[in-house]
Amino acid sequence: MTVLTRPELIGTITELRAALDRDRAATRRADGTPGRVVLVPTMGALHAGHLSLVRRARSRGEIVVVSIFVNPLQFGAGEDLDAYPRTLDADVALLTELGVDVVFVPTADEMYPAGGGLTRVVAGPVGSLLEGAARPGHFDGMLTVVSKLINIVGPDTVMFGQKDAQQVFLVQRMVADLNLRVAIEVAPIVREPSGLALSSRNRYLEPSEAEAAVSLSEGLGAASVAAALGTADAAAATRTARAIIAARPLVKLDYLVVVHPETFLPVEAQHRGPARMLVAALVGHTRLIDNVPLDLNPEPRATAQKI
Ligand code: PAF
Repeated sequence: MTVLTRPELIGTITELRAALDRDRAATRRADGTPGRVVLVPTMGALHAGHLSLVRRARSRGEIVVVSIFVNPLQFGAGEDLDAYPRTLDADVALLTELGVDVVFVPTADEMYPAGGGLTRVVAGPVGSLLEGAARPGHFDGMLTVVSKLINIVGPDTVMFGQKDAQQVFLVQRMVADLNLRVAIEVAPIVREPSGLALSSRNRYLEPSEAEAAVSLSEGLGAASVAAALGTADAAAATRTARAIIAARPLVKLDYLVVVHPETFLPVEAQHRGPARMLVAALVGHTRLIDNVPLDLNPEPRATAQKI
């Protein structure tokens, strides 16, 4: 019988640093290098997408830390901070099965004493586009907490999911721009068998909404195929996806856009080359996002993203 060891649950920065110093020393290799620490930052309400990040983290380092913190700084007025699902016991049970070493569960006071200080990481122009336009200040709050977590944990690698493509882009930019000594690893989107990208918010969807929401991944998949066949530039790929999504009245499109992977800015209509198509929509009261890489070349390729 395998006996699972519950991860250490730690709520304070001082205790976390002491535990990680201990674990790094205990996992020191013969050449003297300490064990590698991999951080998976989360806001809890863990689903299979998070678990794939944790499994990946387990395969990358000796010490896996999962943070669970619903970061108030990245929620705007009228957003779902209070309603955000909090499922700590279930989360810890899942993380126990995956052999996580430490779960960091700070309070808001621990992360932001005296209300939060004044210093913020500012996301810059890309931070106010797309998700940033719908959620003003969201990315400043997200980057601020991610930089704090990096400073608190001191990981070698931090895992992120590709579903939050703009978040990934901005974190990578922050790490490069601020010379942070950490690697960012990005794991592929995990989907339901229907194609719907996994999200903590999927639990709010009524069955009819969940069915309609599949049009997002269907639209992106069709655009990816059209791009790979060489038949679509950015504008044509967008029309293909839009037609599929528009057929579902329950889905209210916010944006459907093709961005350049290096700038995250919208590409020209005739753009050819690598790109990423992003979608955001309100399905019922639930805001969903998804994305797919596009290979917009005039020659057919065998690289359509299977969704
Ligand atoms: O993606 C999330 O869950 C959050 O934005 C993160 C990275 C944990 C920061 O709060």
